[in-house]
Amino acid sequence: MVRAMSDDLYNDARWLVGAIARGLHARGGSHVDVVLQRLAEQDMTREDFVEPRPQTLPVTRYFAGTIAETMMLESELAAAIASLDGHLKWLQSKSYTDEILGAGFSENYGWCEIVGPQGFFKGDDFIIGLLMLGPQRHYKDHYHPAPELYWPLTGPTDWKQGAGGFETKQAGAVIYHAPMVHHATRTADQPLLAVWCWTKDTHTPAKLVDA
Ligand SMILES: [Fe+2]
Repeated sequence: MVRAMSDDLYNDARWLVGAIARGLHARGGSHVDVVLQRLAEQDMTREDFVEPRPQTLPVTRYFAGTIAETMMLESELAAAIASLDGHLKWLQSKSYTDEILGAGFSENYGWCEIVGPQGFFKGDDFIIGLLMLGPQRHYKDHYHPAPELYWPLTGPTDWKQGAGGFETKQAGAVIYHAPMVHHATRTADQPLLAVWCWTKDTHTPAKLVDA
């Protein structure tokens, strides 16, 4: 029985990886191609599957609402994410405090890994997961050595990198951040659910510019 439940979860995790890959493939572009290539290199057999200890955070109060919005954009992906509800391990970066990021930030922010050290498949210097950000939040300038791709599934949301100002992106856009480039994200009235990916150099965590 335990084995059967775990098989279901394995199948759901593989379904989500597949749905992300199909959705990204449809978007195309050189940065997406790198993500798909690195994803294809990961070990994701039944033997590689690990069940993370589930964990919720205050920001997951927006989970159902953002899934409903994602249904309009990518119905299969939305269903695949929803199938893992209750099994995801939602996390926060310890250095991200309300003092730095604004009162209430920690109740409006969280991420989980699908492939990665805290995900369902441990990954080889590769992480793909989900990010959630509540409405009216500013995830301030930060940077990291990992090349990063974001695929917001809800929106609109504002994105900034380098010396540029904020640009508004609709749900479904693909955003690439080169290694060490400072970048920030801002939400307006809608909470954000996004797929995010670090394709290499994943061992150094993100650092806030102001911290
Ligand atoms: Fe980043």
